[in-house]
Amino acid sequence: MSKLWAGRFSKELDSTANDFNSSIRFDSRMYKQDITGSMAHAAMLGAKGIISQEDTDTIIAGLSEILADLESGKLDFDWEAEDIHSFIEGELTHRVGDAGKRLHTARSRNDQVALDIRMYLRDCGNEIIGLVKELAEAVCEQALKNAETIMPGYTHLQRGQPITFGHALMAYAMMLTRDIDRFKDALKRMNVSPLGSGALAGTTYNIDRQMTAKELGFDGAAVNSIDGVSDRDFCIELCAAAATLMMHLSRFSEEIILWSSWEFRFVELDDAYTTGSSIMPQKKNSDMAELVRGKTGRVYGNLMGILTVMKGLPLAYNKDMQEDKESVFDSMDTVIMCLKVFAPMVRTMKVKPENMKKAASEGFINATDLADYMTKKGVPFRDAYKLVGQIVALCIDKKWTLDDMPFEEYKKLSDVFAEDLYEEISLETCVKRRISEGGTSPDSVREQVSYVEEFLKNV
Ligand code: ARG
Repeated sequence: MSKLWAGRFSKELDSTANDFNSSIRFDSRMYKQDITGSMAHAAMLGAKGIISQEDTDTIIAGLSEILADLESGKLDFDWEAEDIHSFIEGELTHRVGDAGKRLHTARSRNDQVALDIRMYLRDCGNEIIGLVKELAEAVCEQALKNAETIMPGYTHLQRGQPITFGHALMAYAMMLTRDIDRFKDALKRMNVSPLGSGALAGTTYNIDRQMTAKELGFDGAAVNSIDGVSDRDFCIELCAAAATLMMHLSRFSEEIILWSSWEFRFVELDDAYTTGSSIMPQKKNSDMAELVRGKTGRVYGNLMGILTVMKGLPLAYNKDMQEDKESVFDSMDTVIMCLKVFAPMVRTMKVKPENMKKAASEGFINATDLADYMTKKGVPFRDAYKLVGQIVALCIDKKWTLDDMPFEEYKKLSDVFAEDLYEEISLETCVKRRISEGGTSPDSVREQVSYVEEFLKNV
């Protein structure tokens, strides 16, 4: 197919240069958006009397045939074409003749491509929001089941204080609510139609930009045509939201990997989301979680890539901007794939409360609670803290835990200790007592679940 712009040239584009220049390998995925956008543009041209109603009808009929043929596989893309826009316009003209040549009146590929990516990414963003919602629901489900499950809470990956597993899970649920907000926010700012910006300066035709914007589901039309065709900040925002979401998923993955190891054995992943080893028959590997952790790297890379492509570009469109698509598409694809395995992996994960409890019983995890016990009996916290430190050292020496250090020993160290101390420092009491807002107590975890479920209802 000869180039749209062939008129000025006396030679064809060199074939290697053509391959280099062509974007159809990665922009063909926007065929539906390109066709829908063209239909709206043609309808507007007809309504404004810029082309005849007859031509409008011919164009729209031709485009819907092309759409149907592409979807049924009757028509394949021409991989030599320059991009999806020239392919579809060329195919239309091939099918309907002169009417097809009138479609591009008052339009440029610059506003066309800016329109197509926005429409394509709007769908991706909405799909991602739906999938994050599903994951958050799965997390809430597990958290509710494990509102009373005691585990060690860590800082520096050292046992710190006893927490409930539900509490730890709800930390991730909260991150996911903010991820949803980040995507929604990016979509809101992006939902402005560039169509009618033309190449950069607008057009001499009496077009109606509000009409096409409305028809295509936008909240309005770009206020400045140069901005409309030349910024890709919305791709960057989506890549950034994707990178932040992946950062969260990578942390969650890392914990799942640790929790499923023999060292922890806090959870067991369902067979459907694990793999074996080709040589070690005993192995059950958390490949899905590892891949999510690994894929975080490419999503970060895509963000850096697109930021760098846009850096220092003068107004308005520059061909550099064709490089926007692969990064943002890859980030969207990756996030979608990761979320599709993550939610069922979390939902089907088996929790092992006995092992969590056992780990929580070791490591003097209730030392803060022992100090609090003394403080409540009138000992200044700093003094109590110091004495508990000495008690821990003694226990290590005698191979005791705080729970089995004999009462006479406690009594020797301070007379504030009474028989109730064992009950007060039991893991159950430790978590149940942490009733402060947002804390680890089972009731607090249930409140957190209700909060997130309410949030998700409005997504
Ligand atoms: N394939 C191009 C892109 O993705 C479409 C816009 C081409 N515009 C132009 N003036 N060459 O950016």
